[in-house]
This record gives sequence, C-alpha cells and structure tokens, in this order.
Amino acid sequence: MIRMENLTKVFDTPGGDVTAVNNVNMEVPAGEICILLGPSGCGKTTTLKMINGLIPKSAGKIFIDGKDTDTVNPVQLRRNIGYVIQQIGLFPNMTIEDNICVVPDLLGWEKAKSRKRAAELLELVNLVPSAFLKRYPKELSGGQQQRVGVIRALAADPPVLLMDEPFGAIDPINRAVIQDEFLKMQKELKKTIMFVSHDIDEAIKMADKVAIFKDGILEQYSAPDDLLARPTNDFIASFLGQDRTLKRLSLLSVGDVKFGEEYKVHGEGDLANAIGQMKELGHQNIVVTGPQGRARAFLHLNDILGKKGVIEEYRQALPAVANVKEDLKTAVSTMFRHDVSWLACVDDDGFYKGYITQKAISHALSAIYRDEKQNTLR
Ligand SMILES: Nc1ncnc2c1ncn2[C@@H]1O[C@H](COP(=O)(O)OP(=O)(O)OP(=O)(O)O)[C@@H](O)[C@H]1O
Ligand SMILES: [Mg+2]
Repeated sequence: MIRMENLTKVFDTPGGDVTAVNNVNMEVPAGEICILLGPSGCGKTTTLKMINGLIPKSAGKIFIDGKDTDTVNPVQLRRNIGYVIQQIGLFPNMTIEDNICVVPDLLGWEKAKSRKRAAELLELVNLVPSAFLKRYPKELSGGQQQRVGVIRALAADPPVLLMDEPFGAIDPINRAVIQDEFLKMQKELKKTIMFVSHDIDEAIKMADKVAIFKDGILEQYSAPDDLLARPTNDFIASFLGQDRTLKRLSLLSVGDVKFGEEYKVHGEGDLANAIGQMKELGHQNIVVTGPQGRARAFLHLNDILGKKGVIEEYRQALPAVANVKEDLKTAVSTMFRHDVSWLACVDDDGFYKGYITQKAISHALSAIYRDEKQNTLR
C-alpha cells in the first residue's frame, strides 16, 4: 500500500517558487494499479520521485505498507521500489543483461540466479534472450530499450513499482501485447503500482484507479468507469474527451448487457411458436439453435408471417455472433461491420446465451446519466 498525506513539493527557482505538487492525499491499496494522468507539467513525475526519495518533499507524509518513509533508510527504500524512469535510463556502457541485473547485483544475488531471471524477464516482453542479453542499449530500438527498462524494475521482485510512461515509445501493436502481458503478470505478482501515462485508453484498460492531476492538484481519483461516467468537473470532462461515453464501451462486456436467453427456437420447432416469441419480445428476429443449444441461424418475422412449413426452409445464417466475454467496443464494431442492429450472444463453445442490441447498449451507456438527472430533479 502507498499512502500520501498532504504531500507537497515547492521548487525554488530563479523565477520564484513553483508548486509542482500541492497537498495531495491519496492511497493505492496493495496489489492495485494506480495510473496518474494529467497535462504536461502537472506534477506526475515529481510525485513518483518523492515516493522513492529521489526528490525531497517540501511537506506531507508518504507511507509504504503503513511505514512512514521518513523513517526508512533511503537506500533500503529504493531497493524495495522498482522504478522505471521517463527517459528509460539504461546504463549505456553495460550490456542488457547487466542492466537488468543492476539491483539483484546490489542485493548480492547469486550470479546464476540473477542471469536466469534476466533471460526469463526478456522473454516476458517478447525479446529473445539469446539475441539481446549481450547487446548494449544503443544497439536496441527505443521501444526495445523501454521494454528492458520495465523488466529491469521487476528484476529484484520489489513489492512496489513506480513507472513513468513505461510504454510511451512502443508502437501500438507491441504496446497492446505488452500491456496484456503486463496485466497477466500483475494478476500473479500483485505488485502495488503507480504508473504515469499520457494515454487515456491505456489508463482505462490497465488501472484499478485513475488519478487526474492539474497544476499539482489531484482533481479526481476514481475507478475508470466511474471517471468516464461521472467526471467531477469541466476540466476532467474535457480532459477525458468528447468521446468519453464511447470509451466506456471497452469497460463493459457483452455479458453485462445481453438479455433474452430464454427466447429461441429449436431447428425442429414450429413456426407458430417462433412468431409467438418474437411478438412477445417485440423483435423482428429470433435465433434458431441446434440440438445441443448452439446458436445456428435466425428467422426473420416478415419471412414467416402467415407461412406454413418447417423452420429449415426459412432460416438464415447468422452474419456474426458476439462472445459474452467480449467488450462492447468489439461487439459494436462487429455490428457496424455487418450493418446489423443486433447480435446473437454465445459462450466459448458456441452455446446461445441471449441477444445484444444497439438499443440495449445505448441504454446501458446512458443509464448512469439518466439516473443522475432524476436525482437532481427530485
Ligand atoms: N528540478 C526542478 N526545478 C524546478 N522546477 C521543476 C523541477 N522539476 C520539475 N519542475 C516543475 O514542476 C512541475 C511538475 O513537473 P513534473 O516533471 O512533475 O511534470 P509531469 O507531470 O511529469 O509532466 P510531463 O507529463 O511533461 O512529464 C513543472 O512545472 C516543472 O517545470
Ligand atoms: Mg513526467
């Protein structure tokens, strides 16, 4: 756990005092990821550096695991905190392997153990150990150096990690891969992480909570969905962007908004039953399932109204389906790609799990705003 109480930093500059961090109070619970966001110069790096003692604070307190950091030896403190600096900061005259092992070496780890760890960590970020261990930083691309910077902070397995824009120089495809790998790793390692980003989407994807700063002041500290749904002031709302409602799509899953699992017809069922169900549901379509319950096809109301015969004659192939585990962004994208206003939902094995409709999605996105309006009218 990291806790800051009235944390303040005033720099004394020739042009006068600069309050870089202004009376910040916040807590990052153990095992969670907190992402710091805010315009350039708002105090993010200064906050991280005060936590590991690289910049002395002007006022306030910092506690790590309940311990006042003023009472901890600074060298000891820094060894328990992995730090990824904004400019990567690999030592140019050391190989990648030696760079990764800097802290384990300081801690007196056996060489065999630390070198094995270096190779494992490189694999974790998709860098082939045999190709990279003996190279020097200048022989790596910026994005590759950045990945080494991240794993170097993990080398000695510190409980706390501070990372300053750790994925900033990595291209979007590798960045998504590394973000996913990082989240997978975090699920197991459960480090307490504070991490600065300039990328709102990265924050929404990775953070348990997001802290937004402006001019050294902590403006809002909320879980991502809460932040997008309820920005506390105009600055936060404009910082998050006009499309903040759409951003929420990536936080909600198909399973959150699907409905109507009970509405379906078997391939051998009769048309009258299908028509009855569609009328009850008020839908123009119904899913046809196979013998085990997998989504197989659909019937369109107008095709079968007043008709006799078997379902097989009228059923049409489903243009696409949505997995219940997918996020809504993926499902909406599938809907637009196929120009449809609904999708059948399935589990990993293809079993039918209900519908998702554009209307249900917009309802889910607007519910929170509507609730708030009602509250203010009351
Ligand atoms: N050593 C210093 N001396 C004087 N002022 C400083 C010093 N370091 C930072 N500042 C000032 O403190 C403020 C906060 O700087 P900080 O580096 O924390 O910003 P940041 O939020 O990390 O910005 P960025 O997103 O650009 O990295 C800025 O106004 C900066 O100019
Ligand atoms: Mg910075």
